Amino acid sequence: MSSQAATAQAVAPEPELLDLLQELSAEEKVSLVVGASMWATTAVPRLGLEPVVMSDGPVGVRGPDGGTSAMFPAPSALAATWDLGLAARAGALFAAEARRHGVDVVLAPQVNLQRTPVGGRHFECYSEDPHLTAEIAVALVGAAQAHGVGMCVKHYVANDSETERTRYLARLDERTLREVYLAPFERLVRDVNPWSVMGAYNGADTQGVAAPLLEHRPLVVDLLKEEWGYDGLFVSDWVATQSVAPAVRGGLDLQMPGPDGAWGDGLLDAVRSGEVAESELDDKVLRLLRLARRTGRLTLPDPGATPHATIAAAVAQGAGLAAQGPGPGAPEGAPAASAVLLRELAARSVVVLKDDAGLVPLVQDAARPLRVALLGPAAVEPFFQGGGSSFVRPDRLTYPADELRAALPPGSQVTLLAGARALRNPPELDIDRCTDPVTGEPGLRVTLLAADGSVLTEHTTTTWTGWLQDVRPDADAVRLRATVRLDEPGGHELGVGTVGIHRVLVDGAEVAAGATRVDEDVVLSSGHNHPIAALAPVSGAADLDATLQVVHAVGYGHFVRAALVHRLPGPSAEDDLAAAVEAAAAADVAVVLVGTTAEVESEGYDRPDLDLPGNQDELVRRVAAVNPRTVVVVNAGAPVLLPWLADVPTVLWGWLPGQEAGTALADVLTGLTEPSGRLPWTLPACHEDVPVPHARPVAGVVEYAEGTDVGYRAWERRLDAGPDAPAPAAPFGHGLGWTTWEYEDAVLARGEAHDAPATLTVYATVRNTGRRAGREVVQVYVEAPDGGPRRPVRWLGGFAVADVPAMSSVTVPVPVSPRALQVWDPQARGWTTPPGTYRLRTGRSVADLRLTNDLTVRPGDAPGTGAQ
Ligand code: BGC
Repeated sequence: MSSQAATAQAVAPEPELLDLLQELSAEEKVSLVVGASMWATTAVPRLGLEPVVMSDGPVGVRGPDGGTSAMFPAPSALAATWDLGLAARAGALFAAEARRHGVDVVLAPQVNLQRTPVGGRHFECYSEDPHLTAEIAVALVGAAQAHGVGMCVKHYVANDSETERTRYLARLDERTLREVYLAPFERLVRDVNPWSVMGAYNGADTQGVAAPLLEHRPLVVDLLKEEWGYDGLFVSDWVATQSVAPAVRGGLDLQMPGPDGAWGDGLLDAVRSGEVAESELDDKVLRLLRLARRTGRLTLPDPGATPHATIAAAVAQGAGLAAQGPGPGAPEGAPAASAVLLRELAARSVVVLKDDAGLVPLVQDAARPLRVALLGPAAVEPFFQGGGSSFVRPDRLTYPADELRAALPPGSQVTLLAGARALRNPPELDIDRCTDPVTGEPGLRVTLLAADGSVLTEHTTTTWTGWLQDVRPDADAVRLRATVRLDEPGGHELGVGTVGIHRVLVDGAEVAAGATRVDEDVVLSSGHNHPIAALAPVSGAADLDATLQVVHAVGYGHFVRAALVHRLPGPSAEDDLAAAVEAAAAADVAVVLVGTTAEVESEGYDRPDLDLPGNQDELVRRVAAVNPRTVVVVNAGAPVLLPWLADVPTVLWGWLPGQEAGTALADVLTGLTEPSGRLPWTLPACHEDVPVPHARPVAGVVEYAEGTDVGYRAWERRLDAGPDAPAPAAPFGHGLGWTTWEYEDAVLARGEAHDAPATLTVYATVRNTGRRAGREVVQVYVEAPDGGPRRPVRWLGGFAVADVPAMSSVTVPVPVSPRALQVWDPQARGWTTPPGTYRLRTGRSVADLRLTNDLTVRPGDAPGTGAQ
């Protein structure tokens, strides 16, 4: 076998940073490796060191300023474009957004894999495939950093589920770790050197060590920093640091947030007592200084450094932002060109799962008006972004009904109805309905109580956001009271969604109580942060009285959560369905938008099942039964089951599309942009078939028993074993676009340039046989030679996107990295290419392979030997 032993590549510190290090006291060094606040590092003004500001990521750049931001489609939508040019443009927009919000490092992208479809953060990840993940991430991070903004790639590593996320141990063998879960991180470090990497909450049991990631020396110090020669900053996930000395030695460089927490409270004492040597902090401080310098936060006489103003201008130029005009409807002052890019991205990401009757695009004749029944909960209120820390306040939101009305031929009609319910919890209570029961003033009475029950402060408020933040530390509980006006005849429902110790009374009767104390777990862990509305049926008027114990959470301060919710009397679910069906029957075409919600897809918890929430399946079935021209658009980030798939002629996957939900969908439906997305994951037909159906740790351990057979590879293994194996509803890589393709020829070329890594390229000739120009995503899958180590049946080795005019063909070069052939050899501690004849299979998805090339590798003659 040809083998490349992994070698250590120590980072040589820059002399000028070493000089600065000499100037720092032990106290200053400690302060530098602990965050100064929620989002910023510590400044040392006398040395010209300013705070480095970080912010989430990865759905936009939220910014610490509370302002609005460009809201991107979910990362899985970006991956569904398989388009590295678009990913690079998205990276440039991340940089522009970071500058706009005064952010130096964006906490993105997330390059964990979609190991199980129930994973709560599935939408934040790119793909179930490591190669697609790595390619998209490299393009995005490379572009962002080229514009002077750092990216913090997260979460290192095996952070693939949310249940018990701060505690579980991921148990994986070394090959699985190297070939699958570390692969995107390794590619990023090698190709674009992310300026920061975030260590995960979970632990890992691998390479003989079972420890939290922030204390896992073999993975962080030996591998990331030494073997890969990583010179950036290894930062903790928020409030993930559990120890002082073990985390110092495990490789953690910066505890975030600060200033309290394990290091904030204990590191200085540990240095003073000698438990941690001051010199153990030096490499960490150097990495922090390096990051500050890269982001322009360290003023050093450095001829190569680019001042901030110049970077900002370059970013605007590079992102093409200066040249483009405002996007439609962009608010005053918003960077309008972001809307243009996000609209293109969201439209391009849409996957045509099926289109049996050729319904898409709907507009075939621009002069013919259409009657469209636009139905479904997501038609009325799209699910723009998933829940959790990636949340951004959007610059603007666009809605399908408005945009379709504007884009359809003159005289068209759009009837908008929800028809079904997707949300379990009722909407927010309108505070205008509330009166302070003590003073009679409009609003909600807020009383802060001390531990002995005495009143600390009282006031009436006319605003309520669902939280009371920055509660004074001596407050033990908060009491909220209101008389709620419920004039509309019929039964209302009133409730409070909260966590921790609480008691909720409605009209003097207890409707909910909780006795479990919560602290930072409320922000970090499964289920806690999910509002549970304790609902009471009421009418006329009701007295609401909720007492909530204050939550004291390290890093997040003192707060109470109280989502005041209210459901109006209204038509029954059956009435809603009937109205939608009637509208569908009277329309030329029914477009039904169904999907998940933030109650279902969010950081902090995994999904119990893969069902569409509420009665949405029923809506689709009944609409399709009355109108054969039905188009369903699925508004979800992660797979959901579509039990009616066979009965609906056209189904599109519309993702969590971000702020351009409306414009992008209108572009796709009217034919302005081809929905050229391809699934970056497998769509199961039923939950029982899913290879990794849940993410629950057993006795604190998540066993990665499927090894390297992640995602579609496990489906392929079973299908390969026998014809009775379950097939998915749609395979990895699937997507029809709006034209048809023939694969004519594939030629394999083995580049042997001696001044560059040897490469493999499949030159695939594809013909667009349709009458429209179209975009094809040509995919090459690798199959291993017989014999040799156990490997997946086939895996993605390369891909390329090609735009092809109608009725013409093009030859597309598809690069296949030599690493695609390699396996990790734990004995030799290096990468090897097992000899034999590999098959490179080119096609439209993992299940639609059209052409084959053989590649014979003789011992000692592997492509890429000596370089990767
Ligand atoms: C998440 C990270 C995020 C951080 C800061 C954590 O709970 O896991 O992805 O960057 O919070 O918001």
